[in-house]
Amino acid sequence: MADFVGALDQGTTSTRFMIFDHGGNEVARHQLEHEQILPRAGWVEHDPIEIWERTRATVQSTLNKANLQASDLAAVGITNQRETTVVWNRRTGRPYYNAIVWQDTRTDRIASALERDGRGETIRHRAGLPPATYFSGGKIQWILENVDGVREAAENGEAVFGNIDTWVLWNLTGGPDGGVHVTDPTNASRTMLMDLETLDWDDQLLSFFGIPRAMLPEIRPSSAPDPYGVTRADGPFGGEVPLSGDLGDQQAATVGQVCFSPGEAKNTYGTGNFLLLNTGGELVRSKAGMLTTVCYKFGDQAPVYALEGSIAVTGSAVQWLRDQLGIISGASQSEALAAQVEDNGGVYFVPAFSGLFAPYWRSDARGAIVGLSRYNTNAHLARATLEAICYQSRDVVEAMREDSGVSLDVLKVDGGVTANELCMQLQADVLGVPVSRPVVAETTALGAAYAAGLAVGFWRNTDELRQNWNEDRRWRPQWDEDKREKGYAGWRKAVERTFGWVD
Ligand code: G3P
Repeated sequence: MADFVGALDQGTTSTRFMIFDHGGNEVARHQLEHEQILPRAGWVEHDPIEIWERTRATVQSTLNKANLQASDLAAVGITNQRETTVVWNRRTGRPYYNAIVWQDTRTDRIASALERDGRGETIRHRAGLPPATYFSGGKIQWILENVDGVREAAENGEAVFGNIDTWVLWNLTGGPDGGVHVTDPTNASRTMLMDLETLDWDDQLLSFFGIPRAMLPEIRPSSAPDPYGVTRADGPFGGEVPLSGDLGDQQAATVGQVCFSPGEAKNTYGTGNFLLLNTGGELVRSKAGMLTTVCYKFGDQAPVYALEGSIAVTGSAVQWLRDQLGIISGASQSEALAAQVEDNGGVYFVPAFSGLFAPYWRSDARGAIVGLSRYNTNAHLARATLEAICYQSRDVVEAMREDSGVSLDVLKVDGGVTANELCMQLQADVLGVPVSRPVVAETTALGAAYAAGLAVGFWRNTDELRQNWNEDRRWRPQWDEDKREKGYAGWRKAVERTFGWVD
């Protein structure tokens, strides 16, 4: 068997290809950003062709850097920004429209109409999701209703839908000549179209959005012993490698963090934060604003479910300090600026730029900075931004506890913001729970590699994967209970100030 496994991580801001060895160690990587297309307030798009070009380039550069070829890879896994929606022509492979990104809020009317006439309850029960702009169903409906010719093409089977995993797999296996049209249950569980119990598309849910079933990909296991396909020899791999792993990025990070037992959780800090708690075979229906989602489905084993707390804006609030306010020159500088002050000086910043996701689900919320006095400086704002990341995570942890009864002993973290030591210390302080970061912080790509490698026998079982997990750093709470609860009460008050700013 070949010595390595590859993983493609197609994220919201960039695409990376990574190669791992049997110990789960990184061997090589290459990463490229793509354009964020912002045609109007609230709209966010990506060019699917650009994403495919970046995919090709990152694969080729990584193989070159490592001096490896297709035959050195036992398998390749795919992981992706979830919910982002592409519709393309089955014959030509050309997209009808840009990808509509998960952060895009143009479908707010579609979402609120679902809620008004009672269909929201059916969606909550069957798909585990509240009707919201976040998920794919409304985005597909918008394309069907607003892009010329798509409705007709969808009805005669020419227009097909995919999330980014599906788009990339289509192109890796066939491209314009027609590749495989598949997805996995973790991605499908983010569309509002899949029944969580049957793991199949649901006709009633499809009818809510007017989506013809023929548009949808086949749902295959996240780790597929019978691979989805092989990479085209004339594609970026230059040879045939089995494509045998497919996981939405947050579920992939949960696998990369080896959260294989019920009660195990991880929190990923990227543009947003996504906390997932493995609930095993049990489908926990949230009463506290969490999503119920598929965590993974390996081969013919029963699916494993998760509760998820999705937070739209965390790391991107730090980018906002850099790009819109210009008070820092790089994301890493936020730590130095925030460290200039002992505390937030009474300032709370609620970055509700796209409304608030979990646990509030308030699309009428907008961002607020409260508690200002003349005494405050940029440093307090930087600190309040880092605290916002941590307080939003606490909101989610509280809701998770309410739903599942699980109190975390330790929070496993990963993602770019975990390089910010001050933020991680604040996270431990705000939660009153230790925070632990693994040596391999690229858990998303690692999880996709694990799914692909398990499928082809590169790794034997999940116990073997557990051996690969090692702690790099642990932060312990330093605040006393009184400080922690006063701080959190201030945050809750600030959050309330953001409600009702838009219709
Ligand atoms: O649900 C959205 C999530 O999958 C995006 O993750 O890391 O690409 O921002 P990321």
